[in-house]
Amino acid sequence: MTARVTAPVVYAMKGSGKRIVCLTAYDVTSAAIASEAGVDVVLVGDSLGNTVLGYDSTLPVTVDEVCHHLRAVRRAVNGPLLVADMPFGSYNECVPDGVRNAVRLMKDGAEAVKLEGDYPDVCAALVKAGIPVMAHVGFTPQSVHLFGGHRVQGKGDGANQVLAVAKRMEQAGAFAVVVELVPAEFAALLTAELTMPTIGIGAGPHCDGEIQVFHDVMGLSDRVYRHARAFTNGRSSFKRAAKAYAVAVRGGSFPGPENSA
Ligand code: KIV
Repeated sequence: MTARVTAPVVYAMKGSGKRIVCLTAYDVTSAAIASEAGVDVVLVGDSLGNTVLGYDSTLPVTVDEVCHHLRAVRRAVNGPLLVADMPFGSYNECVPDGVRNAVRLMKDGAEAVKLEGDYPDVCAALVKAGIPVMAHVGFTPQSVHLFGGHRVQGKGDGANQVLAVAKRMEQAGAFAVVVELVPAEFAALLTAELTMPTIGIGAGPHCDGEIQVFHDVMGLSDRVYRHARAFTNGRSSFKRAAKAYAVAVRGGSFPGPENSA
């Protein structure tokens, strides 16, 4: 039987010497690949807006859309902790909204939810309802317009603000925190100051773990971002395969007699 990663298991990984490996997934294929590869955490990120729905930010993503992809991912994840992102607007207005929307995600198979920014009241209410919460600080993509673009956070005076938010979320019961697009030295300080594990993206090598977007790791994105690394050339090898398929069909070498019922 595959050992199941739970939120308390992730929390206990801090200081254990084992780094926490997190990867996003959006459908049954990406989820099976991540799960079979043995990652610790699979996140149905609202990055699905960019990676699979073609939006130019995460802002339009709805709870219905996350639930739709979550149900597919749920069918293939066996072992890793399954976390679902709370999309923009699903927790920002009031605590009851946050609880209602997180409950929907849990009913569709999530084992924890992630929310961006300074929402200790929502976090505490979710924990009270039995829902583990992953926090997200630094550059939080749902606030891209407030930041004026994809800007590094946690520099100068901003460092104290990010640290304070992370501490408030920790006190409210978050079991881990994603730290996005901050200087590596600041991520090291956050990691030392917090008792919950830090999970970096664009935050250098000193966090307790790392999270990346499936399409970036697989080389499926149309560019390689500075915070990412493509571990294979998915996009170009898929394109080569699609071209070879077209050549084979047009040239009559596929399908052959062996490809019939
Ligand atoms: O939506 C997402 O995929 C994320 C991670 C990359 C941190 O929030």
